[in-house]
Amino acid sequence: MLVTGAAGGVGSYAIALLSSLGFSVTASTGRAETHDYLRQLGASDFIDRHELSEAGKPLQAERWTGAVDSVGSTTLANVLAQTTYGGAVTACGLAAGADLPATVIPHILRSVALIGVDSVMAPMKRREAAWRLLQTQLTPEHIELATEAEVGLAELPEVAEAILAGKVRGRVVVKVS
Ligand SMILES: NC(=O)c1ccc[n+]([C@@H]2O[C@H](COP(=O)([O-])OP(=O)(O)OC[C@H]3O[C@@H](n4cnc5c(N)ncnc54)[C@H](OP(=O)(O)O)[C@@H]3O)[C@@H](O)[C@H]2O)c1
Repeated sequence: MLVTGAAGGVGSYAIALLSSLGFSVTASTGRAETHDYLRQLGASDFIDRHELSEAGKPLQAERWTGAVDSVGSTTLANVLAQTTYGGAVTACGLAAGADLPATVIPHILRSVALIGVDSVMAPMKRREAAWRLLQTQLTPEHIELATEAEVGLAELPEVAEAILAGKVRGRVVVKVS
């Protein structure tokens, strides 16, 4: 399985979950300094995110049986083109852009599925299933590892700048009280 945007919040949790479910996980990241962190979460292989960011052919060598993509744009198009016959790719985010410069070729020649993910309007039944998965598959160590910091509301502007500058890994917990 491939996880893009690996050192981000979605990517970190996806790696921990997939790895604990028994998948072999490749992490795509632009930050080589996060490899140790990602390995501790469960990644066993790494690619530089720039490998996926340039426009590529509609059909490429098959590398992934599935992927969790939080990047979008040409990255998602390349991931679809590299997914094996019958594989599935989830589109979770748009860190690199909301466009999708892809073709239908991987879908009609390799039966690759592109599955949308939305957490905002997800029905309660699906949320409960997701929470169960977090409860059964993640350890407190996973969560601690993937929590960069705990901050108050006043610190948010500073944290937002750090996130946009690519300096935060995993999640930041905001104490609202
Ligand atoms: N669908 C939903 O329900 C849902 C829920 C939550 C979040 N999201 C979306 O998912 C995306 C990720 O959220 P997040 O909370 O994980 O954000 P995040 O913590 O900021 O992580 C995003 C990661 O994407 C990578 N990245 C950033 N800019 C990039 C670029 N220009 N090209 C390629 N990779 C880039 C970086 O990973 P590396 O440093 O490892 O390269 C970064 O850590 C966002 O677009 C967010 O809006 C969607």
